Amino acid sequence: MFKKFIPHFSEESAIDLGTANSLVYVRGQGIVIQEPSVVAVNQKTGQILSIGAEAKKMVGRTPGYIVANRPLVQGVISDFEVTEQMLKYFIEKAHKKRFILGSRPRVIVGIPCGVTEVEKKAVIDATKNAGASEVFLIEQPMAAAIGARLPVQEAGGNFIVDIGGGTTEVAVISLGGIVISKSLRIAGDKLNEDIIQFAQEEYKLLIGERTAEEIKIRIGSAYPLISARNLKEKIQKEQISNGTNGTKEKKVIPMRGRNLITGLPEEILISDGDARRAMEKSIKQIISEIKNTIEETPPELLADVMNSGIYLAGGGSLLRKLDVLVSKETKIPTKIIEDPMTAMVRGAGMVLENLDQLKETLVETEYLEPPK
Ligand SMILES: Nc1ncnc2c1ncn2[C@@H]1O[C@H](COP(=O)(O)OP(=O)(O)OP(=O)(O)O)[C@@H](O)[C@H]1O
Ligand SMILES: [Mg+2]
Repeated sequence: MFKKFIPHFSEESAIDLGTANSLVYVRGQGIVIQEPSVVAVNQKTGQILSIGAEAKKMVGRTPGYIVANRPLVQGVISDFEVTEQMLKYFIEKAHKKRFILGSRPRVIVGIPCGVTEVEKKAVIDATKNAGASEVFLIEQPMAAAIGARLPVQEAGGNFIVDIGGGTTEVAVISLGGIVISKSLRIAGDKLNEDIIQFAQEEYKLLIGERTAEEIKIRIGSAYPLISARNLKEKIQKEQISNGTNGTKEKKVIPMRGRNLITGLPEEILISDGDARRAMEKSIKQIISEIKNTIEETPPELLADVMNSGIYLAGGGSLLRKLDVLVSKETKIPTKIIEDPMTAMVRGAGMVLENLDQLKETLVETEYLEPPK
């Protein structure tokens, strides 16, 4: 038995402290915060100017001394003080400062697989300093799998790939534990960087990160798009005949930036094919990470996975046709879980609400000691 039980307590929350987005789930209320993990800081004074959605609006638009930065890099805390301030802001907003009057919330925070003890301690300390009374940790793919209602506690194998902003986590879960996991520091944000680099190399055009992300979301895909006959897309597109195999769809959108040679603003049309070419190398690396995990999966569990399939979670899984490519490359059916960007925090919230059944899925920490 666990030494300490967590009593059912009203001020409890689950937090997905992501590289790109942070979410807070409050017990009994559901998701109350979903904001970018961005903090705007005045470098002259060190003062924090805004956090979350407000701060994201400032990215790339601020005068030089105001920097909008992300305190997490590749899923782990890189700026401790700023992370603490961001967490404090989210926790207070989520609990409407009620806990200040007395009870401080107990919090479950998602962490990437395979982080060091020092990195775990940084998450616990930052969350405690931000106002939590006790902090429990859960590995993000485990929480995402629970959020997707996969049977994580059964003897079968569950294969989950969480493609976030900073990391791609691949995990095989069985009997309430992670049997094998791999973490790759290539995910959605790297795809944005790839598009920035492509624009620069191919067109000598300097574009911002927000523009690159918009291109990825509006026309990006991992595999050629074959349109259904009646696809009603609003964005500008050209139809190109693709012989007898139906119609190959080409999406084109304008990309605005500054010409690096003339220094003047310029608009160039970018197609889905260009975007795919830009992101190809990184996507291949994500696919190889999945394949490497498959190779290391014990055969019995792999037999289960061949049946149940590969589940994709995280915002990066929304890249068009990524599921098709994963399925084609691995020969295993692949599905995107429902609402992939909120699955982690919903899963951690389910653990809060069903602690007696699910506490074995938490990571051992000072608060949660191993069974005797
Ligand atoms: N429709 C979409 N198509 C492609 N990518 C998308 C889409 N929507 C969001 N993304 C990408 O998903 C990423 C953010 O996903 P998510 O919120 O799951 O990451 P995170 O949890 O903050 O990061 P991490 O888990 O790595 O710490 C961003 O890179 C974003 O560009
Ligand atoms: Mg994440």
